[in-house]
Amino acid sequence: MKLDVALCFSLAAHTLATPTSTNYSPTNKRTSFDWHKTSSVIAFGDSYTFVQGALGRPNYTFIGDAFNLSFTPSQLFSNRIVLNQTSTAQGTAEGGPNWVEFLTKCGVKKGLTDPQTCKVQLWDFAYAGANTVSKVGFTPAHWNHTVSFEKQVQQFAQSGNPALEGIGLKKKDSLVAIWIGINDINDLAKLRGKNATFAPLYETVQGYVFESVEKIYELGYRNFLFMNLPPLDRGPSPSVNASLVKQFNAIQASHVDAFQSKHRDTTVLEFDVNTVLNRVLDNYKDYGFKNVTNFCPGYNKPDIRNNPSKYGCGEGLDTYFWYDSGHLGSRTHEVFTKELRKWLVKKSGRW
Ligand SMILES: *[C@@H]1O[C@H](CO)[C@@H](O)[C@H](O)[C@H]1NC(C)=O
Ligand SMILES: *[C@@H]1O[C@H](CO)[C@@H](O)[C@H](O)[C@H]1NC(C)=O
Ligand SMILES: *[C@@H]1O[C@H](CO)[C@@H](O)[C@H](O)[C@H]1NC(C)=O
Ligand SMILES: *[C@@H]1O[C@H](CO)[C@@H](O)[C@H](O)[C@H]1NC(C)=O
Ligand SMILES: *[C@@H]1O[C@H](CO)[C@@H](O)[C@H](O)[C@H]1NC(C)=O
Ligand SMILES: *[C@@H]1O[C@H](CO)[C@@H](O)[C@H](O)[C@H]1NC(C)=O
Ligand SMILES: *[C@@H]1O[C@H](CO)[C@@H](O)[C@H](O)[C@H]1NC(C)=O
Repeated sequence: MKLDVALCFSLAAHTLATPTSTNYSPTNKRTSFDWHKTSSVIAFGDSYTFVQGALGRPNYTFIGDAFNLSFTPSQLFSNRIVLNQTSTAQGTAEGGPNWVEFLTKCGVKKGLTDPQTCKVQLWDFAYAGANTVSKVGFTPAHWNHTVSFEKQVQQFAQSGNPALEGIGLKKKDSLVAIWIGINDINDLAKLRGKNATFAPLYETVQGYVFESVEKIYELGYRNFLFMNLPPLDRGPSPSVNASLVKQFNAIQASHVDAFQSKHRDTTVLEFDVNTVLNRVLDNYKDYGFKNVTNFCPGYNKPDIRNNPSKYGCGEGLDTYFWYDSGHLGSRTHEVFTKELRKWLVKKSGRW
């Protein structure tokens, strides 16, 4: 009975995105996470998180691809975040800056940004279309150039981390941001069919996620931010329903908790973006959205920002919650990132 209560509490804590204060242990000192002291964000994930790099594969990555995974420090530091004409997604998959750019304020301006010039540097190894692992018969790679989350971490261990160590990046002031699973849940639904039993598959996914997270831990990083799945069930053409999303997120939360319990010297944050976005959808008018069920058909046209009515999107791209059939719009990212930043400040305890 006691155990049940504890379990409920821990799930509730995630659902409500409220801080848990149970992680302090005087013998294994936790890092003192402080958003105001954070000097870099190192990001992994999929198209929700990728930013375009001058040395990246166009529309997929900041740097490299599966055919060209390694890079030298001088390549990394000569690379620039590209935010081009927002209309054709040249920069992100959201038609404008995305959450890691809004969070760090690195790369939000049109043109080229050198991450090293940002107050909070953004080093982004996410790959558009990535699954947690590229595995035939489970979650196959979308393309032969795809870099799965697992491979992103290998790439980081081989090339990214040594380069960042070379410029004296302070790991204790670095936040590792991970948002992965959107392609996994969609692909598993499509490949396994409606009658599959998904919980064991989601367990397997999270097992893979945290094998790789352990590798990042071993490199010396101690502050981790995990995002759960957005309300994919409320998208323009959903492959999953709300109960599958909820199940996936509960399984993710239990793995996040297990990682925190195993490593008392870390700060492990899980932002419940699902609850935040469901609230935005329920009260969309309060947030200036006009259309939360579909996307603007001309979303990827070069003149969409200047001439939205040409495509029947009179009120403009920023009034659409969804950018396309599978992505949140840039303004939606801006809206939830405001909440995320406030939450990170709240989580900045003196442990
Ligand atoms: C591999 O990527 C680097 C940048 O990371 C680039 O300079 C180089 O030209 C690429 N090589 C190939 C064969 O694409
Ligand atoms: C990137 O995506 C945009 C928008 O869909 C498209 O117009 C462009 O051709 C793509 N670029 C490449 C190199 O595939
Ligand atoms: C922006 O896009 C234009 C046209 O697609 C291209 O010529 C230009 O080089 C791009 N700018 C950057 C910074 O990539
Ligand atoms: C990758 O896939 C593309 C498109 O399917 C194909 O044209 C290309 O030859 C493949 N590259 C390799 C190295 O397999
Ligand atoms: C959600 O989808 C799963 C898998 O297809 C199905 O088993 C379940 O009954 C659905 N739940 C609801 C409430 O529709
Ligand atoms: C799924 O289960 C239902 C109810 O048992 C059955 O009628 C249907 O044929 C099954 N579908 C598949 C694709 O197995
Ligand atoms: C939302 O946008 C789609 C695509 O433009 C349109 O068909 C639909 O009527 C819009 N819905 C609302 C409520 O405006």
